[in-house]
Amino acid sequence: MTPLLEVHDLHVDISLSHARLHAVRGVSLVVGTGEAVGLVGESGSGKSLALRALLGMLPVPVRFAGGTVLLDGEDVTGLPAKQRHRKLTDAMSMIFQDSLTALNPVMRVGDQIAEAPLRKLGKSRSEANAIAVDLMGKVGIPDPERRFRSYPHELSGGMRQRICIAIALSTKPRLILADEPTTALDVTIQAQVLGVLRRLKEEEHVAMLLVSHDLAVVSQACSRLYVMYAGKVVESGRLMDLVSVPKHPYTFSLLRSVPDPDHRVDRLLTIDGQPPDLSESLTGCSFAPRCPFATDRCRGEDPELEHVEGAVGAPRQSACWHFDSADRWAEAVQAEMARQR
Ligand SMILES: Nc1ncnc2c1ncn2[C@@H]1O[C@H](COP(=O)(O)OP(=O)(O)OP(=O)(O)O)[C@@H](O)[C@H]1O
Ligand SMILES: [Mg+2]
Repeated sequence: MTPLLEVHDLHVDISLSHARLHAVRGVSLVVGTGEAVGLVGESGSGKSLALRALLGMLPVPVRFAGGTVLLDGEDVTGLPAKQRHRKLTDAMSMIFQDSLTALNPVMRVGDQIAEAPLRKLGKSRSEANAIAVDLMGKVGIPDPERRFRSYPHELSGGMRQRICIAIALSTKPRLILADEPTTALDVTIQAQVLGVLRRLKEEEHVAMLLVSHDLAVVSQACSRLYVMYAGKVVESGRLMDLVSVPKHPYTFSLLRSVPDPDHRVDRLLTIDGQPPDLSESLTGCSFAPRCPFATDRCRGEDPELEHVEGAVGAPRQSACWHFDSADRWAEAVQAEMARQR
């Protein structure tokens, strides 16, 4: 697969009056042309800041503290800010985490979609309106000509999120960065919106980096995943490989906390404890304090994210000293459940 976006060793700091947080601590990831990739991790793990950092859109007091961003193999990190922003936003669109509230309440939704074609792509008003109607149809809004004239408050949450996706598509991006695009929606509407994103990938070949705290959501739309914990990627690989044999205990815990209709509810496992305080320099693996399988080595030495053996032709990475112990993790959990019964 040809890499479209490559991010290497991305760091983000936050300067607070009393402390400096190291919120993103060396994230690297790749999204190929037309590929749907997921970035998953619990709240506060640095997913949104990583996305904003790679686009150069960090709010004060958050700052880019290092890293390289390549677009089509070209390093854009050193370009003047305006030129870099132009290159990145020509290729990519972002659906922000709070996008539902970001819609302009006093502007008709069709006009909001037509804005970028009008101003950025130099289309005439009638061409831009036609693009907006077409995009509204593509994201599954019924009767788009009529809906063009609606205001956001006249639409349901699911319809408003489709408008946000149409706005993201209006610049003809090759990659959409979608930050929690379904979190505010109920499960049925979530599935419909994910269906829209999947269709865009399949029919329009738009690549996607889908960010969520919910593994079940990214699993519905992505074929490859990065798992983030406390500002770092701790595991990556194909969805099917990760789900069948996790190579990090954090992924193992995430998988066990997803409800599985085929199993009794005692499959659910919550992850006890809190993520580490990112203002402190951490010793050892950052997951060790919450990891039921941690050893002295885990508490003393931080494992690097490294290539580990996986299915042939499917690269797999893990940052765990005991990456090959999934069987043992599963046995230990079964034994604990039996003990509790
Ligand atoms: N503007 C800010 N000022 C101060 N701290 C911030 C700011 N933005 C984010 N943080 C902190 O940085 C860390 C990472 O935040 P980020 O928003 O990237 O998390 P996330 O993984 O996207 O979480 P969520 O799933 O809740 O969206 C968190 O501890 C958060 O509190
Ligand atoms: Mg977020």
